[in-house]
Amino acid sequence: MKAIIPAAGLGTRFLPMTKNSPKEMLPVVDKPAIQYVVEEAVNSGINDIVIVTGRGKEVIENHFDVAYELEKILEKRNKYEMLKEVRRIAELADIYYIRQKEPLGLGHAIYVARKHIHDEAFAVLLGDDIIISEKPCIAQLIEVHKKVNASIIGVKRVSKEDVSKYGIIKYSKIDENLYRIEELVEKPSPDEAPSDMAVMGRYVLMPKLFEYLGRAKPGKNEEIQLTDALNEMLQEEEIYAYEFDGKRYDLGNKLDWIKINVEMALKREEFTTLKDFLRELIKS
Ligand code: UTP
Repeated sequence: MKAIIPAAGLGTRFLPMTKNSPKEMLPVVDKPAIQYVVEEAVNSGINDIVIVTGRGKEVIENHFDVAYELEKILEKRNKYEMLKEVRRIAELADIYYIRQKEPLGLGHAIYVARKHIHDEAFAVLLGDDIIISEKPCIAQLIEVHKKVNASIIGVKRVSKEDVSKYGIIKYSKIDENLYRIEELVEKPSPDEAPSDMAVMGRYVLMPKLFEYLGRAKPGKNEEIQLTDALNEMLQEEEIYAYEFDGKRYDLGNKLDWIKINVEMALKREEFTTLKDFLRELIKS
């Protein structure tokens, strides 16, 4: 299965940091966010990835490329561990890049990658969403997709006050953690939300979606919304939702970025003093 990673958004929630640097390159301890996303795909058996980029995002391409001078210097300085890591990043997968010339929405970003996909189901992983889980999130969705042979969307429950930040599904339950979607509502108010089950940046989609995206009219903010195309597709074929196992962080959101850095740093042996530092900080 191939994967599309949309990474062409402007990241306005993270300004001024994102004025001239992509949010997908924000560090989580010492790795850029998008590397976690690419590694999730690779660890799920995907080795053909299209990253949808835009102006100012060239640094993403460079990150996954060979860094010739750096490699030579690391070699000369006998820094073999780091050299191995730098080389590994350039060999992670076959990565292709397509430019979305204008940020016309997530639906449009997926549509511009259509010619790379052909007539097969494909995975979509948002380039600024990191999911920490034992089994990679997209692998969980691919497994369920193989059983239902239909589009499947990763979801998680959110609190009532948070529903207005997400796409929320109306559903009927099919099995443990598996739901049939009846409707998707984009960022509803808490009173209008059909449930507390929110769409979370991971999808396995049937190629027919491209037909609906091609016909979709610009919606909110003049953007081509993925939600609109999915609702159209729902009229003709079934779409499922899977409540995946894992914790999701939206790196486009400043607080989530701070939280994931603290969580990931606490797991690292080299930062043993961090816990004490945090305790002291909270006390003071
Ligand atoms: P977001 O809504 O989180 O991205 O889109 P954004 O528009 O960059 O964020 P804000 O609201 O201005 O802070 C979800 C995903 O879709 C991609 C983003 O890069 C992100 O991975 N996207 C969004 C595109 O690739 N193109 C677009 O036109 C919009």
